[in-house]
Amino acid sequence: MTPLKQKELFLIAQSMLVKAYAPYSNFQVGAALLAQDGSIHTGCNVENASFSAGICAERTALVKAITAGNREFVAIAVAGSQGAPTPCGVCRQMLNEFAPELIVIWGTNENQLQATPLSHLLLHAFGPKNLI
Ligand code: THU
Repeated sequence: MTPLKQKELFLIAQSMLVKAYAPYSNFQVGAALLAQDGSIHTGCNVENASFSAGICAERTALVKAITAGNREFVAIAVAGSQGAPTPCGVCRQMLNEFAPELIVIWGTNENQLQATPLSHLLLHAFGPKNLI
């Protein structure tokens, strides 16, 4: 994935910050998930008064993508209202189910991006192969 494509995906993730529903943490997160077919599925975090019922931006994007019929993914970009969040453990596990080699892109802004395969963020992952 070229640096320009990474930047574009990150900017889409960043554009989702305004959609985040995060009244409890005030920590808005946006995500943009690129599928193999070129489609991009966006997400934001959606919190809940019953805190544990909230969902992260990355899983929102993934669930939207699966619902739209996509199961093969190339990359995900994550943007936060503060700092440079990387996907949490639960999101890493959910993403690993479909794309262990997914490229994860994050940063404070589009000119300071980092990118690494999901397999580097979730070492020795437990996945579908373990259940066969
Ligand atoms: N959050 C995400 O949406 N993605 C991340 O990568 C890190 C954390 C959300 C969960 C919660 O709504 C808020 O950020 C603070 O943890």
